[in-house]
Amino acid sequence: MDHPQRSVIRILGIAGSLRAGSYNRALLRAAQELAPEHVSIQIFDIASIPLYNADVQADGDPEPVMRLKAAIAASDALLLASPEYNHSITGVLKNAIDWASVPPRTSPLSGKPVALMGASTGNTGTARAQMHLRQVCAFTNMLVLNHPEVLVGRARERFDEHGRLVDETSRRFVRRLLEALAEWVARLSAEASSQQD
Ligand SMILES: Cc1cc2nc3c(=O)[nH]c(=O)nc-3n(C[C@H](O)[C@H](O)[C@H](O)COP(=O)(O)O)c2cc1C
Repeated sequence: MDHPQRSVIRILGIAGSLRAGSYNRALLRAAQELAPEHVSIQIFDIASIPLYNADVQADGDPEPVMRLKAAIAASDALLLASPEYNHSITGVLKNAIDWASVPPRTSPLSGKPVALMGASTGNTGTARAQMHLRQVCAFTNMLVLNHPEVLVGRARERFDEHGRLVDETSRRFVRRLLEALAEWVARLSAEASSQQD
């Protein structure tokens, strides 16, 4: 559907994998390709985020953390694509969320609409990791979209050798997720404006 009058919805994509050939980063690239016209997706690379240390934080956020927080604050929504490591999300993604979550009073995560997706080489397509991620999102007061769930299992068969998502069903799900996220952002912002009236 065309939405010529709508302003652009800015989504910040974060992959929970640092490796160059990551399927999850490739899933974010697929999302960029499949995004509706009024949705733009920028990918933030969390490779430079240091390990969380409260002593370091007490002296002020390191520069990569400041950039991450500013990018989250400037976005209308987040799109998190995490691999599943040992039935949970990856340490690097949890670490980035931990940094962005403190101090809670000013955390840019609080009240942020978010959608989840993930790709794994096994059959379950990050289902268990996404359940954990929902728990983390709840505590940090992110507003997680419930449906559709995008679980890309057997990733080796769904992406080609250049890292392009070629599986049509997965592409349809990614597109539907982005449409649902755009509607979720619009609905939450309409509710927020009606509360101000
Ligand atoms: C430490 C580690 C733990 C893993 N645990 C799981 C797991 O619990 N479930 C699963 O489906 N895949 C698991 N995998 C396989 C990942 O799904 C696979 O490596 C995936 O491609 C990683 O995502 P990426 O391509 O974005 O880096 C694990 C991989 C690693 C390195």
